[in-house]
Amino acid sequence: MKILAFAGSNSHKSINKDLVTLTTTYFKEDSVEILDLNDFEMPLFSSDRAAKNGIHQLALDFAKKIDESDLIIVSLAEHNGSYSVAFKNIFDWISRIQNRKAFGNKPMLLMATSPGARGGASVLEIALKTLPHFGASILENFSLPKFYENFQPGTGIINPGLKMELENKIRIVKMQTMVKVELPHPN
Ligand SMILES: Cc1cc2nc3c(=O)[nH]c(=O)nc-3n(C[C@H](O)[C@H](O)[C@H](O)COP(=O)(O)O)c2cc1C
Repeated sequence: MKILAFAGSNSHKSINKDLVTLTTTYFKEDSVEILDLNDFEMPLFSSDRAAKNGIHQLALDFAKKIDESDLIIVSLAEHNGSYSVAFKNIFDWISRIQNRKAFGNKPMLLMATSPGARGGASVLEIALKTLPHFGASILENFSLPKFYENFQPGTGIINPGLKMELENKIRIVKMQTMVKVELPHPN
């Protein structure tokens, strides 16, 4: 299985990237690519720009990465109760590519974390409501509150209940995305 993972953040110290990176370690037998949104920085989306110059090449590249994947693992940074500009800009650009749903009808494990007690609950709620309309098939979602209390670099999630919750959800995602078993052809 090909996994595309990224944080919805352009911070070089992104805690969401830490969570995404940890989560990908549970998919050892799969091929994993972790993207950095800084590599897909484009001018702010504008309808005028898109009409004049077409869809930005980096948006086409990002969409191709989605299309080539079997599972998307994403953890969203929450900025003022919503998406970070870095994520929203890419989302807007790829949503204007003709004849595609932005997230390509791909299965998605959707997460969020923040230093606060709500763990990005607002952005997670927005994403849960809206991303399915844009081709995200959300299999599970997970919020990690109080990142700096519950996560230790090198160790991962140190709160046993939250660790178990994530691991259970990963198990469900794995079961739902398992490669279909080829049955022997009946003679
Ligand atoms: C512009 C801005 C707005 C923020 N708004 C929120 C917010 O609404 N809720 C929240 O929990 N944290 C908020 N934060 C704190 C972020 O959760 C924190 O910076 C976190 O590290 C972002 O994730 P990242 O490290 O993956 O970029 C905000 C941070 C910034 C810079």
